[in-house]
Amino acid sequence: MNVVVKQLTGLRDWVDDRFPLLQLWNDHMGRYYAPKNFNFWYYFGALSIVVLAIQIVTGIWLTMNYKPDAELAFASVEYIMRDVEWGWLIRYMHSTGASAFFIVVYLHMFRALLYGSYQKPRELLWVLGMFTYLALMAEAFLGYLLPWGQMSFWGAQVIISLFGAIPFIGDTLSLWIRGDFVVSDITLNRFFSLHVIAVPLAIVGLVFLHIIALHEVGSNNPDGVEIKKKKGEDGIPLDGIPFHPYYTVKDSVGVIVFLIFFAGVVFFAPEFGGWFLEANNFVPANSLVTPEHIVPVWYFTPFYAILRAVPDKLIGVLLMGAATNILFLLPWLDRSPVKSIRYRGPIFKTALTLFVISFVSLGYLGTQNPTVLMTWMARGFSVIYFGFFILMPFYSKMDSTKPVPDRVTD
Ligand code: HEM
Repeated sequence: MNVVVKQLTGLRDWVDDRFPLLQLWNDHMGRYYAPKNFNFWYYFGALSIVVLAIQIVTGIWLTMNYKPDAELAFASVEYIMRDVEWGWLIRYMHSTGASAFFIVVYLHMFRALLYGSYQKPRELLWVLGMFTYLALMAEAFLGYLLPWGQMSFWGAQVIISLFGAIPFIGDTLSLWIRGDFVVSDITLNRFFSLHVIAVPLAIVGLVFLHIIALHEVGSNNPDGVEIKKKKGEDGIPLDGIPFHPYYTVKDSVGVIVFLIFFAGVVFFAPEFGGWFLEANNFVPANSLVTPEHIVPVWYFTPFYAILRAVPDKLIGVLLMGAATNILFLLPWLDRSPVKSIRYRGPIFKTALTLFVISFVSLGYLGTQNPTVLMTWMARGFSVIYFGFFILMPFYSKMDSTKPVPDRVTD
């Protein structure tokens, strides 16, 4: 045993003389001091990395048998499901992983709203996160075309045609995206290339930058107290603990619990009642038969509901774009002197509650056939959704606050 340890230490030192291995480890793990009061909400960053890894690995294996060809794509997915050994598992992990990604990322973003993690000095960290979120939406949209089912085809047809609403360049732009006058084999090929190479590369790069930015400023925490302001004589934050081993161990517990739920869905409910895999997508794409009810997957429906709530197509498209992009501005819209919801007043708490209700309700309405009543409800919730952001500079400033402690409380 001693010989093995000695040899491994020797190898480590050999590498370390040529590459800053120990320094990187210490800077980002062993001597990266994270606040000692992380709670449940702090699991979702690590879980996002886990899901990213699951998607990349299962994606590589799916690509080994998938055929990006309009004549063969649907059948190749069926082949993976029925004939490829463990193919069903890999495919269900990938399709469940797509929804799991949005669940963990939405909770991760909500944590930032709870604790003001986007506020100074973490604005750039937030902006990088937002770019990751947009890339993730693009990745999901591109991937959804690949099984070449009815929903793949018609979903892409509807979303790409939205670009047609843009004045002057709209039609040329949709033609350019599709590469054809309708969604076709050409579209499938380019979506495949973007889905398996371009966008994943961008996501991995963005996550890397996200973590570098995080480690530069240090993590926020449920009290919104900057731990770097109170250091001991050794220069270590008094409320900080080394990320490794404390949070590597703690995060492992979160990862195991997550994987139990994940496996539960993969093995027992992979379609999740039509929320993760829609019934219509088990029917091959047919350009001559339009499905009665075209809806995107649940993670897009809040924005789809906003689009449908507006009678004018162009304004609807602009508002749908604004609904996601307005989040970029959050660090500059929030004028509150405190970060964490623990020390904020009733106005912010009410505003955040209304925002969550409107987001979830829009998400539900976006999955339903739009009756007159539902359209009016979607309009009301859209107003609340945008009101949360547009009025934030005012209510966040005038809201009462509680005194923030010097040190973290738990
Ligand atoms: C693939 C997607 C993402 C990955 C892998 C990821 C990863 C992480 C990790 C590992 C952390 C540190 C642990 C934690 O605080 O939970 C973190 C922190 C953070 N992330 Fe992300 N993230 C992703 C997307 C996003 C998005 C979409 C946003 C917001 C738009 C965002 C905003 C933040 C913020 C503000 C923090 C600091 C939180 C704090 O210190 O309180 N992230 N991220």
